[in-house]
Amino acid sequence: MAQSDTTVALIGAGKMAECLIAGWIEAGLAPQAIAVTNRRNDQRLAELADRYGVRTARDKAAVLQGAQVVVMAVKPVDMATALEQVAPHLGAEVAVVSVAAGIRLEAMARRLPGQPHLVRAMPNTASRLRQAVTALCAAPTCSPAAFDRVRWLFDQVGTTVEVGEEAFDAVTALSGSGPAYVYLLVEAMLEAARDLGLPDGVARDLAVGTVVGAGSMLRHTGLSPAELRRQVTSPNGTTAAAIAVLEEMAMPAAVRRAVNRAAARSAELAALVADDGPDHARARAAAMGS
Ligand SMILES: NC(=O)c1ccc[n+]([C@@H]2O[C@H](COP(=O)([O-])OP(=O)(O)OC[C@H]3O[C@@H](n4cnc5c(N)ncnc54)[C@H](OP(=O)(O)O)[C@@H]3O)[C@@H](O)[C@H]2O)c1
Repeated sequence: MAQSDTTVALIGAGKMAECLIAGWIEAGLAPQAIAVTNRRNDQRLAELADRYGVRTARDKAAVLQGAQVVVMAVKPVDMATALEQVAPHLGAEVAVVSVAAGIRLEAMARRLPGQPHLVRAMPNTASRLRQAVTALCAAPTCSPAAFDRVRWLFDQVGTTVEVGEEAFDAVTALSGSGPAYVYLLVEAMLEAARDLGLPDGVARDLAVGTVVGAGSMLRHTGLSPAELRRQVTSPNGTTAAAIAVLEEMAMPAAVRRAVNRAAARSAELAALVADDGPDHARARAAAMGS
């Protein structure tokens, strides 16, 4: 069967699931090849069926029926329970992918005994526009054919990179959470533009065009960010004046600290789910405010 005929079941119907669905439909996957379920929000399932034409069901067995790839898109704290719920309905040939922060392949394997084709993925919400960058890591037991199918699915919503599992906390902090750092920067730019009297619509067009243009320069020129920055920073010019303030206010150090903190949080989530039963994990997660 061609990869373009791949059938997918999504466990979880939240923000990340919708971004993947939108990207896959845009890429040409048949809506009926995608089945979705969640925990209790029937209205959300109806919304996704309406918007994308995907199949939805409350019953996990019905959603998993015929799926070649199962994508677990629940919060880390809900993963143990969700894996235990899907386990009885999986054939051994099915590939199971977790997109959750901090859920290790070993933790998946423990909840899915006899399931060899396990993959960990970290996409981001730009999959909605097929502009995601997704890191992938397969369990040693995963067959090349199963991994290729999973990789093909994520290639449909952007680009993919294969990394060792030890890199996943860093990847989660960089590209999983990364869009939010850029959005915060743009929020601040727009507030500044308002202070300077620019109309909101004009400011938004300019700020968004700037971020997209800078991203394209990074992607297509092959130059380092430092070199690109040097190219737009004349001595004693306007950009130099702005950069001096950002450095004086320790913006680069703040970003480094933020990314490190996100990676540490990913490791904490892994520890939460690693050895505990789901109830214990949930109680501890609540205690930690996650
Ligand atoms: N959002 C991002 O930018 C992003 C980026 C990369 C990775 N991720 C990962 O993607 C995962 C989902 O994040 P999200 O932002 O999409 O969360 P979300 O919007 O809160 O959605 C979570 C979904 O999981 C469902 N769910 C929970 N327990 C379930 C169960 N036992 N069976 C079936 N469905 C269950 C929920 O259903 P109900 O609503 O019915 O409770 C909900 O549909 C997280 O693990 C996160 O780390 C997110």
